[in-house]
Amino acid sequence: MGKNEQNQMLGIDVGATGIKGAIINLHTGQLVTDRIRFDTPKPATPEAVARVIKEIAKEAGWPAGAPIGCGFPSVVVRGKTLSAANIDQAWLNLKAQKFLSTHTGHPVILVNDADAAGIAALRFGHVKNQTGTVVLLTIGTGIGSALFVDGKLVPNTEFGHMPYKRSIVEDYVSNRARKDRKLSMPEWAKQLNVYLKHIDRMLTPDLIVLGGGISKRFATYEKYLNPGTPVVPAKLLNNAGLIGAALHAQSVLT
Ligand code: BGC
Repeated sequence: MGKNEQNQMLGIDVGATGIKGAIINLHTGQLVTDRIRFDTPKPATPEAVARVIKEIAKEAGWPAGAPIGCGFPSVVVRGKTLSAANIDQAWLNLKAQKFLSTHTGHPVILVNDADAAGIAALRFGHVKNQTGTVVLLTIGTGIGSALFVDGKLVPNTEFGHMPYKRSIVEDYVSNRARKDRKLSMPEWAKQLNVYLKHIDRMLTPDLIVLGGGISKRFATYEKYLNPGTPVVPAKLLNNAGLIGAALHAQSVLT
């Protein structure tokens, strides 16, 4: 490893539409390289995803055998992916960490993608120094959640899968649902507000942080939100998943 490389980690974020990666400076949270992005392979089988991760590591110039932190859209317990809502079913109950490590030639440390975004927010964003209960929601193809109590992560919460109407919240309030159901911004934001009120009633959080692509447009729908808990958009936006995955890998390895 080069002189500075112990201060750096390759962070990867596997999403339903894109797989992104960059080398992260672990002290500042800054991207050391440009962000590399590939479309998520269809189908996103473990083999196909492993090939993309290997390719990102190669393009980033990440040394062979060096560890990688990887955010993944699934419940992840002891390296096993225990759900597969927006990813190929082959991931269900897979020893994914082991599989990816074998197939990429890099030790891969997996973490739920929303937890990764939350870890980044805790270190470099809005959750920094925030005591009490903080809920971060990532709103994209799915809805992911990260729960922090006095700065400590409660991993693998799935608040996007709360029962709602005829299905689960994700099917009504995700960005995909907004597009599929052709909802106007006010229509969508009002549903989001109902959801946030449920979160408020269940957890009485001190802060709700909204992440995912649509958090960039927060100013356009903020006026529809009054759940009882203060709501802010995530600061790190699209890179939070990568940064948090890198930070998580470092914390596991040291
Ligand atoms: C998954 C979560 C994930 C979220 C965002 C949901 O469908 O169940 O684990 O965090 O999507 O990708």
